[in-house]
Amino acid sequence: MPAPTRDRFLDLLRAAIRAGTLVKLTLGKHRGTDATLRNLFVRPVALKSGPHFAFVWRHATRDVTKNLAADAALAALEPLLGADFLDAHLFTATQSAQFETQPDGRARLKVGQAPDPISPKVRTHDRAKSHLIPADAPWLRALGVTNDRGQPREGMADKYRQIQKFAELLSHLLAEADLPVDRPLSVSDMGSGKGYLTFAVAALLGDRATIHGVEARAELVDLCNRVARDNNFAHLSFTAGRIASFEIANREPEIVNPPDVLIALHACDTATDDALAKGIATGAKLLVVAPCCQKELRPQLTAPPVLADALRHGIFQERTAEFVTDALRAMLLEWAGYKTKVFEFISTEHTAKNLMIAGIKSHPPGDPTQAARLREFAMFYGIRTQQLAAHLGFSLGQFP
Ligand SMILES: C[S@@+](CC[C@H](N)C(=O)[O-])C[C@H]1O[C@@H](n2cnc3c(N)ncnc32)[C@H](O)[C@@H]1O
Repeated sequence: MPAPTRDRFLDLLRAAIRAGTLVKLTLGKHRGTDATLRNLFVRPVALKSGPHFAFVWRHATRDVTKNLAADAALAALEPLLGADFLDAHLFTATQSAQFETQPDGRARLKVGQAPDPISPKVRTHDRAKSHLIPADAPWLRALGVTNDRGQPREGMADKYRQIQKFAELLSHLLAEADLPVDRPLSVSDMGSGKGYLTFAVAALLGDRATIHGVEARAELVDLCNRVARDNNFAHLSFTAGRIASFEIANREPEIVNPPDVLIALHACDTATDDALAKGIATGAKLLVVAPCCQKELRPQLTAPPVLADALRHGIFQERTAEFVTDALRAMLLEWAGYKTKVFEFISTEHTAKNLMIAGIKSHPPGDPTQAARLREFAMFYGIRTQQLAAHLGFSLGQFP
């Protein structure tokens, strides 16, 4: 059963308020009892007592203002949506979401990227950003990310930032995907490593999801299973194995569903393709990958004459191989039925491995126009084989 539209909008709103990414919320088409009320505007505001949200109730001839803390703000907004106010428009740092109630009572939700990256403007002093993952979470300490005072340990500030940013992005993507609401979600993390981001997903979703990490290095699997046990993560487990040969159907007995959400973050080279192929084959609704060390295509790159002089230089070859690899992946995802977004998920100042590809299942696979463009693109760069294309049985074309 698809998530009701109103719940999906509320999930986006909750995530934005909790993550401190709300830029503004506007409620319109007032149908409540007060005939003078027109709109409600909500913006973040920093008070001495901490971050709050300024509510401006706009009446025909006056404004009424009230500041509420996060929980009170959500409690005040939830009953209004789709009832007193038929429409709502949410802007966060990265997204915009428009909720509309139609005259026949049905609701519609349109989610898009923010027109420009916007940072939430807070009216007074800078406020400490509230994070989705509490800094004093014991698992962050157990994995060596934070110290006893809940601060990033030396050398772990970038990892800490990446964990928080990932949790924020994932919460937006989860709200956008059409995920089941009548049972716990199943989430697979392929190439889970030391589990930083797998634990972040488990902490974010709580008992809404069963999370499973797959990792080639057995010692990391043992560590993660121990930390999960010690920190009472009943729905989180890890298995040692290779992504390509891991049989989702052979998972432990308590994990019965194929993944609704599949993530693979910094899985090396073609392991990203193996993971994407697993997710597509099992019908995952949301795929999120952060590719890493794209080596496969570099030996195949054949410079078209116009690029030959540029591609004499190793660094341009390397960057072109990265671009061609990830662009092909994004196009293959579209061809396989996923609306695809490619974006930087954390500033390059903190890590070079910052590209993220997200696919949300949205349309029937196999568009022939898309297939033709894909082949043309591959041929332009001399690419004959690519791991994800091979997994999907997609031939990149006939070369002379
Ligand atoms: C750079 S780490 C990233 C770990 C984690 N996803 C993160 O972003 O923090 C990549 C991990 O993927 C694992 N890995 C790479 N290829 C794999 C494969 N084919 N099957 C299973 N694990 C793999 C490596 O052992 C390593 O622990």
